[in-house]
Amino acid sequence: MPHADSSYIPSTITTKAEFYDHVVSHLEALLEGERYWVTNLAQTSAILYHSYLASSLYGGESIHPTVNWCGFYLHPPSPSSSSSHPHSNPSSNRTSPLLLGPYQGRPACLSITPIQGKGVCADGFLSGQTLIVPDVESYPGHIACDGETKSEIVVPLRNSHNAVIGVLDLDSTLLNTFDEDDQRGLERVVRILKDGCDWS
Ligand code: SME
Repeated sequence: MPHADSSYIPSTITTKAEFYDHVVSHLEALLEGERYWVTNLAQTSAILYHSYLASSLYGGESIHPTVNWCGFYLHPPSPSSSSSHPHSNPSSNRTSPLLLGPYQGRPACLSITPIQGKGVCADGFLSGQTLIVPDVESYPGHIACDGETKSEIVVPLRNSHNAVIGVLDLDSTLLNTFDEDDQRGLERVVRILKDGCDWS
């Protein structure tokens, strides 16, 4: 099968649980045998973004995507440098920014300061918890990289030592796009990356 066909979503898939089962199995196949984190995060962004674009559960094959941004913010110079960061440490005084990593979508903010209250990515990174934002305008400190974004989900990304090294961030042009099914599915995705990459 050509690699691009991995993001094809069969019409028989009618629930988010089925959607993520499908995407996760194709992601595992795509990453098989590869451990370089840049490659794997780039491929993950691509399969997620194009799977949402292809799925009727997320607006179908519209010219205007529902999920309009999908990618990673990470601690430089390489994700492994964050291994001292505990899984949950809101009082962390490390102020080096999270930097834009592999993604799909329109150009976005290059860096995000990891201070609590300074955006969804910062809060997800510092808390080590997935954050579902049904309406970005109601989220204090939300950083608007794209005025079309209406809702968002941020999932912490961990390395094999279980340290938070960044976040997976998804934006949507509709309110209330992401729910607990997306959380479960995307947490499966970051677990694959956690153990499937060499973070250095
Ligand atoms: N909205 C994010 C910023 C990143 S963009 O959505 C790609 C935030 O509030 O942290």
